[in-house]
This record gives sequence, structure tokens and C-alpha cells, in this order.
Amino acid sequence: MAAAVSDWSTLWDARPGWLNTASYGLPPRLAYTALDTVLDQWRHGSSDWAPWDESVTRSRTLFARLIGAQPADITVSSSASHIISAIATALPDGATVLVPDIEFTSNVFPWAVAARVRTAPADRLAEHITPGTTAVAFSLVQSATGQVTDPAPIVEAARARGCLVIADASQACGWLPFTVQGLDAVVCAAYKWLMAPRGAAFGYLSPLLRERMRPLAANWYGAAERDSGYYGMPLRLADDARAFDLSPAWFSYVGAAPALEVLLTLGVAAVGEHNLALANRLRTELGRPPSDSPILSLDADPARLAAAGIRAAVRAGRARLSFHAYNTHADVERVLEALR
Ligand SMILES: Cc1ncc(COP(=O)(O)O)c(C=O)c1O
Repeated sequence: MAAAVSDWSTLWDARPGWLNTASYGLPPRLAYTALDTVLDQWRHGSSDWAPWDESVTRSRTLFARLIGAQPADITVSSSASHIISAIATALPDGATVLVPDIEFTSNVFPWAVAARVRTAPADRLAEHITPGTTAVAFSLVQSATGQVTDPAPIVEAARARGCLVIADASQACGWLPFTVQGLDAVVCAAYKWLMAPRGAAFGYLSPLLRERMRPLAANWYGAAERDSGYYGMPLRLADDARAFDLSPAWFSYVGAAPALEVLLTLGVAAVGEHNLALANRLRTELGRPPSDSPILSLDADPARLAAAGIRAAVRAGRARLSFHAYNTHADVERVLEALR
């Protein structure tokens, strides 16, 4: 049974004032303990790696559930940018990729290496998809401002023009309910709202997209029969999204799997509501209109926030505050007190 919202923060050991999940999320206690146990096994050589590796399989399945996909369509990696670079192998020569004019470089540079990049405002991408646009790539939630982009009009415009649609969900997965419907790929770094250690990342790759991709980082982990022989030719990759797996950083997944379980138990929709309630209370108290994002950008002195024990980020000269499941109304009050 799901825990009552008032009990949520007891599932973490967060120190009050962590308002920086958009940089990295804090592990639920279960995730931290699981990782701690495995680090101890590593230290003493008291376990085989196979149980660690089971965390990768569990994480893949749980992530698929989170975004309404099949585990066979999920690839694992260590970073969002690596998965995006793999997707870029699907582009033909002379391709053009459309991205928002403000977009995190992990979702820009891999395209710029492989294609010509055009930009447009995030809320006007659909109208900038032309017959010559090969792919459109955007963040569901923008990392500096928290702006949420609705994929529906983009998907509709792209379908009419045979253009691929790639969503970076690194700032969305874990609080924003959405599915892979209509998308060719969804990419997510798991160390933010999924609260995993850095080093775990997931990608949904549609079967049609995979037919166009080249597994340039092919390795033993993506083999069709992984345990039937680790050596030599022939090339024998899995026929699903596993073919694109980066040989995984096990410990990151040891933390990722329990963190995903906690999220699914609480429910992404409930977590999203909780996060928005806190962010919008802060907006209201500051005389700003409510919004659909748990990330806010404030024209506030970062030193003043820091002096009050608030750990936030600074982006484009503004303080960026982000609220997640372990935050409480006490965190909102702390910010208000610091700004008074
Ligand atoms: C939208 C977005 N994508 C990806 C990342 C992380 O990229 P990578 O996994 O390549 O380090 C971030 C980190 O801030 C981000 O905000």
C-alpha cells in the first residue's frame, strides 16, 4: 500500500534544504542501504557479480513500467548523452535536427556532431518542423527554467513529415506522468528525479528506430546469449534494445532498482502532485502565478539562500530551486524566511 504523503520524507535521510534535485536526487534509504551492502561485498570479495547484475535487469523492467514501455525496448547506459549519440547513428547523411534554442548540451552536442542543427523556441517546435527536418529532439522539462513541453503537437507535426521524435526525460521521469506513445526515443539520466547514483541511464528505443541505428558501442553485455561464451566471433547481438546497452556500471543500478521501486510504490502522479504543491506554494507566497513545474528560477541572492542552509543551483545568474518527494513545507518556509 502507498505511504501517506506525510510519511514520505521518512523514506529518505535528506537534510532539510536540499532544493537541487534538478542537479541530483537523493537516494531513498532502501537504495542507499542496498548500495552500502554491495560496496561491503566488493570490499571483501564476498559476492559474485551476478546478484549485482540482477539490479540492471530489475531496473530495466521498472523503468519500462514507469514510462509505459516493454523492457525489450529499453537500453541501459551510463549517461543520457551516450544514448543520444547512439540514436544519432540512425540519421542519414545531410540530416537536419531541430532542438529548442535553450537546451542542455547533452541533447545538443551529439546531434551537432552527426547533423546540421536548427533551433527554435521550445514552445514553437511543432511549427518549425519542415519537410527537411529529419529529427526533433527536446527535453520534456527544461533544466534551467523548468519549462514543461507537451510532446503531443510535436509528435503530430513530426508524423506528418516523417520526422523522428526524441524526448530527453532526465528532468521529467520520476515526477511527470507520461508514456512513450508517439515517441521514437525517450532518454533519461537516472541520477536526478529517479534518485539513482550517477552512472545509470535508460533509453526507450522504438523497434523502427532501432532498425536504423548502428550499435557502435557493441560489447559482451549486448550479446544475444550473454552467458554462452564471452569470447570471439561471430558478432551475435540481441535482437532487442539490449544490443545498444553500454556495459553497465553495476553499482549504479544496485542503487537505481530500489529507488525506482520506491517511486512506483508512491506513484509518479502522486509524487508530481506533491512536488507541484510545494513549488506552487512558494510561487504563491512570492506573488507569482502557479505553474506546471517543480523547478523554479528565482532572482534571489544565492549567498542568502546558502546562508539559510538552502542548497540550490545557479543557472544563468538566477537561483534554480527544485522540489521532490523528500521535500516538505518546512523547505518552502526556509526559502521564504531566507528571502524576507
Ligand atoms: C535535460 C538533461 N539531460 C541530460 C542531463 C545529463 O546528461 P548526461 O547523462 O549526458 O550527463 C542533464 C543534466 O543536467 C539534463 O538536465
